[in-house]
Amino acid sequence: MDNTAQIDSWNGPSGLKWARDADQLDQMLQPFAAAVLEAAQPVAGEKVVDIGCGAGALSLAAALLGAQVTGVDVSVPLVELARRRAAVKAASTQFVVADASEWQPDQKTQLLISRFGVMFFADPVAAFANIRAGMSEDGRLAFACWRSLPENDWAMVPVLTALPFLKEPPKPSPPGAPGPFAFADSEYLHSILTKSGWNNVKVTPWNGSIQLPGLKAEDTATFMMEIGPLSRTIADQGIDPATVRQALIDKVRSLTGEAGATQLKAAAWIVEAVV
Ligand SMILES: C[S@@+](CC[C@H](N)C(=O)[O-])C[C@H]1O[C@@H](n2cnc3c(N)ncnc32)[C@H](O)[C@@H]1O
Repeated sequence: MDNTAQIDSWNGPSGLKWARDADQLDQMLQPFAAAVLEAAQPVAGEKVVDIGCGAGALSLAAALLGAQVTGVDVSVPLVELARRRAAVKAASTQFVVADASEWQPDQKTQLLISRFGVMFFADPVAAFANIRAGMSEDGRLAFACWRSLPENDWAMVPVLTALPFLKEPPKPSPPGAPGPFAFADSEYLHSILTKSGWNNVKVTPWNGSIQLPGLKAEDTATFMMEIGPLSRTIADQGIDPATVRQALIDKVRSLTGEAGATQLKAAAWIVEAVV
């Protein structure tokens, strides 16, 4: 399975940005770590694998509940950061640099978890079948993935604000293409899991608001330009970021509440299944 493009990206620009902004991203995405753990209910001593663990926030949260967690991720900079964070917390975790579509654990996994780390496989059916092969007979999974871009204002508002400054509107990704919104269609998501052998698939909508990083409009605007679909559009079209920056700052000011932080609508699926 050729995941080269994603592996390069997560060891290049995306991985370096996610590592640099890890603390801020963890604050923004904390509600989803909570939702995954609420669905997963890790038990002390259980062998847990966190797929696409990134800088390890979800792995560390599960380890704090007593689970023995292995985080798997293709990104060297993010795994190195996860290891440093785990050392500080003396957490019962290990982190492996590997492509989860091919990697197998030494011992069977009882619980698979992920926060936005499973939407990047070139062949998702083969990847989820490989992951399932590493599970114990009573294994289960719980993960979070995004619904569609238009349902996620945190990602859509920056694109719409920047639209007048772009050479052309960003081309929508083909349905199911590897990327953050690959599993937006719940029927497609359901079919990936059932075709790869998982059972009792349950897909529950998560609706809410998330707080974007930055207490100053300038900082939130910088975040909007650097993370999410707008960053790729700016890079792909060779746009000078300075041309969209002021429009984003003005937009953030119009959205920011009295607390000085920008809250935008987010929509995800919380997915559960058993082996
Ligand atoms: C959106 S980030 C989420 C990171 C982390 N789970 C979090 O919530 O902060 C997606 C992660 O999936 C990882 N990833 C992408 N393709 C992967 C693959 N084939 N195997 C393992 N990890 C992968 C990336 O390196 C990245 O760390």
